[in-house]
Amino acid sequence: MVHQDRPNRTGEYVVLDGEIVPTSEARISVLDRGLLRGEGVFETVRTYSGTPFAVSRHLARMHLSAAAAGIRLPPDADLVAAIEDACRANGFAETRVHLTVTGGPGGPAPDPMGDVDPTTIALAGELRDTTGTGEVTAVTLPWVRHEGAALTGVKPTSYLDHLIGHKWAQARDADEGLWRNGAGDVTEATGSNLFVVRDGVVMTPPVSAGLLPGVTRDLVLERCRARSVPVLEGPLTVDDVRGASECFLTSTTKEAVAVVSVDGVVIGDAGHPVVDAVLADWRRWAPRHPDP
Ligand SMILES: Cc1ncc(COP(=O)(O)O)c(C=O)c1O
Repeated sequence: MVHQDRPNRTGEYVVLDGEIVPTSEARISVLDRGLLRGEGVFETVRTYSGTPFAVSRHLARMHLSAAAAGIRLPPDADLVAAIEDACRANGFAETRVHLTVTGGPGGPAPDPMGDVDPTTIALAGELRDTTGTGEVTAVTLPWVRHEGAALTGVKPTSYLDHLIGHKWAQARDADEGLWRNGAGDVTEATGSNLFVVRDGVVMTPPVSAGLLPGVTRDLVLERCRARSVPVLEGPLTVDDVRGASECFLTSTTKEAVAVVSVDGVVIGDAGHPVVDAVLADWRRWAPRHPDP
C-alpha cells in the first residue's frame, strides 16, 4: 500500500481571496457559509513538472458544482491565478492545490445576509511520491449514496460522508471503501473512481449510477480508446468487482492504483498488467498534455 495521495507538507502560503498570505495567519469569517452550512465547492488540481494539469476540466466541473449549489464563482481568470500563485508561492517540486469557493460570510440562515462575495481559498500541499505504483485493498461500505440525491455528481466541501466511509474502511484494515447506489450497484470509492477489467475490457460505472465524473476517469477512458483498449461504461455489481481480473481506482493524485482485494476476496490471479499499462501510458502522456 502506498499513500501517493497524502500531502507531505501544507504550503507555507495560501491564496485567500486573491491575496498570498502566510497560511498560519490566514483567517476567514465565522459567518462563512462554507463553515456553517457546508455551502462550498472544491477541486483538487495537481501539477506535472510544476505546471497545473487539466485546469480547464477542473474549472468546468467546478462550474457545474457551483451551479448545483447556487454559489457564484469568481471569474475563471482569478481562479487560475489563485492555483498558479499557490504553486509558485510555496516552491514545491510538485504541488496539489485544493481550490475551494464558499458562499462567503453570509451567516447561517437559508438565505445569505445581503449580497456577500464568495470566499476563495487555494491551499497548496506538497505532492511527493509521484513515481511509485500502488496497490490498495478495499471493502464495500454499509451505506448507500443515492444516484438521485441533490449532491450527485457535485464536489461539495461537505465531504463528511466520504470521510466517514474512509474511516470505516480503515477501521477494518482496508485502504479504501466502495460506495453502492440505491440499486445496489458499486459506484466509486471515497475519493476516487472505480474501474474493473473483465475479459480484457476496461469497465467503469456510468455517471448516471451516481458518482463524481472524475477528470482522471474521463481521461483514462479517452486514453484507453486512443490505445484501442476496449472500454465499457455500465453498471457493476459487487460480484462483478470481486470476480474481475483486475480492479483499479483513479483520481488526480492517485492517477491509477490497483485494488488487490475487495472484502477480503483477492482480485484476479495474474497481477495487474492492464493497470500497469494504464499508469505507464498516463505518466508518459499527462506531463506532455497540461490542459487536455
Ligand atoms: C468521490 C470522488 N470520486 C472521484 C474522484 C476523482 O476525481 P478526479 O479524477 O477529478 O480527481 C474524487 C476526487 O477527489 C472524489 O472525491
